Amino acid sequence: MKDPIHSLYETQVYPAMSHPLSDPAVSAVAALLGGLETPAPARARILEIGCCSGHNLIPLAMRWPESECIGIDLAETSVREATVRATAAGVTNVVFQAAGLRDYKPEGGAGFDFIIAHGFFSWVPDEVKEVLLAFCRENLSHSGIATISFNLECGWAARFPVIRKVKAIQQARGGDLIQALEILRFVTEPDSPEVAIIDDMLAKGPAILAFDDFGPVNDPWPLDRFVRAASNAGLRWIGETDPAENIPSILSDELVEHLAETIPEPFAFQLAADAAAGRTFRSGVLCRADAPLMTQIRSDVMLDFSVRAGKEPAGESAMEIWRAIRSCAPACVAMREVMVKLPEWDPPELANLVCNGITNGWILPRIESLGFESQPATFPRLNAFRMLCAREGLPLVDAWHKPCLFPEKHYAVLAAMDGSRSRTELAAFSQNHCPELAFEPWLRHLAARGMFA
Ligand SMILES: C[S@@+](CC[C@H](N)C(=O)[O-])C[C@H]1O[C@@H](n2cnc3c(N)ncnc32)[C@H](O)[C@@H]1O
Repeated sequence: MKDPIHSLYETQVYPAMSHPLSDPAVSAVAALLGGLETPAPARARILEIGCCSGHNLIPLAMRWPESECIGIDLAETSVREATVRATAAGVTNVVFQAAGLRDYKPEGGAGFDFIIAHGFFSWVPDEVKEVLLAFCRENLSHSGIATISFNLECGWAARFPVIRKVKAIQQARGGDLIQALEILRFVTEPDSPEVAIIDDMLAKGPAILAFDDFGPVNDPWPLDRFVRAASNAGLRWIGETDPAENIPSILSDELVEHLAETIPEPFAFQLAADAAAGRTFRSGVLCRADAPLMTQIRSDVMLDFSVRAGKEPAGESAMEIWRAIRSCAPACVAMREVMVKLPEWDPPELANLVCNGITNGWILPRIESLGFESQPATFPRLNAFRMLCAREGLPLVDAWHKPCLFPEKHYAVLAAMDGSRSRTELAAFSQNHCPELAFEPWLRHLAARGMFA
């Protein structure tokens, strides 16, 4: 008999999604900041556990044709879909396999340089969590990393009373989740903090809620429990995938300063910051406990990253560097190339500020550069996977691995971008199919997101 998780994912479609935080070009930076130099993603062995219909893994395999990508998932239907899409898009360096993690035995003993488990840990029973961590220990290459996302107890705690009430209402009167939520909304005091939670659940809608708040397993953990479990399995927690989110960026500088003064021990400070922010989600980077970590990180490592501009920083020096980086937008360029535009800067001083930029989110680092034509071509053409997504109404994954879902009517215009129509012809096509769409600015926006790369 299939377990409830298997049945759910076999009978309901989980929305196709890509996850920028699972991108090895991003997680490799977090590893290096923690002292571990991973193999280059472009020639790596990459495994995604719980890969669903392949929306996250196929674009990575396409980006790095010399990598070897494997996706596994319990749900046969999703794996079939993933295989069909990869084949249709002509991607030959990815394979998908229907397998539960407990029974999965990877072929070849080389180990994986990147293991991705996104949206997995919090949605499986404890024994599978344990299997996942043990699997990573056994199957990571020596300098490999695992990126494992999980939900945080401190942010989710307030949602559970609402979940319990909705379930009780459903049990008492039957009907669906949304009806039960609407009843709860009606009887809840307008000034109760639960109103915002109920509204958030209503906004998610039934298709997401069935997997999310009301999934068969929904088990958020505190960070310290996650780190301990990883350590018991022979893994080391390196930190958050996004270095700007080790401390939640929504907290004000004053509050962070106050917390840091009150709680000097760094890990306890992190736990307190999560609690203060009501944080709901983390994405951790882990390596083997015996991985060859550098004991001292050279400060000029910062200058080896590729960078693009994040949010605008405060302070004149930061602004000068940020502007130099932004002048290369939308590309992500080697910091050493940007340095040419900053000749008065002393490298160690610059490295310090780049470090500040990375940890505060005004510099977005990657382990490798990424450049593309940011203006639309005369005959705009989506690549084979994006074209497939355009035809099927799925999110298109941009150059930064971000998914972009469009209003239904725009998909016809996207699907016409197969390189056979000029911009003028596409503009006329768009005018016919969705006259409300401001075609030219939209096309430029798509190009700036690297959709034609
Ligand atoms: C919440 S979905 C996440 C999908 C995708 N990783 C994402 O984040 O968009 C969880 C996925 O894990 C798969 N799954 C659950 N338990 C599993 C197991 N024991 N072994 C392999 N896959 C499993 C499910 O079939 C489902 O596709």
